[in-house]
Amino acid sequence: MEIKIERNQNPAPKPTDESKLGFGKVFTDHMFLMDWDRETGWHDARIVPFGNLSLHPGTTALHYALEVFEGLKAYRRADGKVQTFRPFENAKRINNSAKRLSMPTIPEEDFVQAIDTLVDLDQDWVPHAEGTSLYIRPYIIGTDKSVGLHTLNSALFVIICAPSGSYYPQGINPVKIMVETEDVRAVRGGTGFTKCGGNYAAAQRAGEIAEEKGYTQVLWLDGVERKYIEEVGSMNMMFKIDGTIVTPELNGSILPGITRKSILELLRADGEKVEERRVSLEEVVKAAENGKLEEAWGCGTAAVVSPVGWLAVGDKEYEINGGKIGPTVHKLYDEITGIQWGKSNDRFGWTHPVSK
Ligand code: PLP
Ligand code: COI
Repeated sequence: MEIKIERNQNPAPKPTDESKLGFGKVFTDHMFLMDWDRETGWHDARIVPFGNLSLHPGTTALHYALEVFEGLKAYRRADGKVQTFRPFENAKRINNSAKRLSMPTIPEEDFVQAIDTLVDLDQDWVPHAEGTSLYIRPYIIGTDKSVGLHTLNSALFVIICAPSGSYYPQGINPVKIMVETEDVRAVRGGTGFTKCGGNYAAAQRAGEIAEEKGYTQVLWLDGVERKYIEEVGSMNMMFKIDGTIVTPELNGSILPGITRKSILELLRADGEKVEERRVSLEEVVKAAENGKLEEAWGCGTAAVVSPVGWLAVGDKEYEINGGKIGPTVHKLYDEITGIQWGKSNDRFGWTHPVSK
């Protein structure tokens, strides 16, 4: 794919205090754009100065949520080079999301080339401080200029990048999670397995209520029986119960997380007992009451590995591992971030060099 580059003649000053980056608030000097229409397919791949998009008020994405996105990070290694983590997994997943919403897919090689070219150009924006990275947000929006409901005829692929610190203000410290019993996020046959904006819109109300009550995020239950654990707003969940690590199976209504997949591979390679299956809330509550719930954590690109110290179910709150970081979470965090930041041997070949 040929990518035209228009350099930003007015580059912004880079953040000087990397400890204050927050998450997804500051953006780099450039962005990637590529257009699609039904007749010509993808065309006009270009990198341009970062700036506002100009959209027709009838744009499909604004009315019918035809939007799919991805999230991955570029990491600065100790030797100064920059690498990403399993970007072809993101390429596959954005295409699975796009197919579900009847949106155009992108050749995997082009998706990764676009990210590599943009991150390479903006590589001075990849932060250096411990725990920081460049969060990369690729997304596709439907851009037909019509409020009629019909098959999509045009789309825009965009990539923006944000130097970021930890996702939660707590950092790697345990978070408080609240089980949601009213709203549902997704159902089988719906779009739960995709990364589409609509899923996050459906989750917004419960998230706001949880936050008002002092919880970081919501733990979703299945949309049919309201019995089985699905995932958290931006993370897949894992529990260590009586020596075994259990995680909800990929049932079509939860996101197949790349961090989840990587952690399961790490755990299995390390000889840990791992089960992917239906996990009921009742099982977790019973384990907590019997002292068998040893640890719980969420995992995701933005959140990395995040211990859950407290789980609220109705008016009860269960403390997990004394509200402290447990040994399994600690080990996993070190292992996965060791590979991502290039501090330890990439024994699975997961990293992808961006800068030479
Ligand atoms: N579940 C949801 C709803 C998410 O938004 C995310 C974040 O991307 C995850 C799980 C974790 O997925 P990944 O590890 O691929 O980032
Ligand atoms: C990610 O982890 O990449 C996500 O997309 C989570 C997002 C809701 C910030």
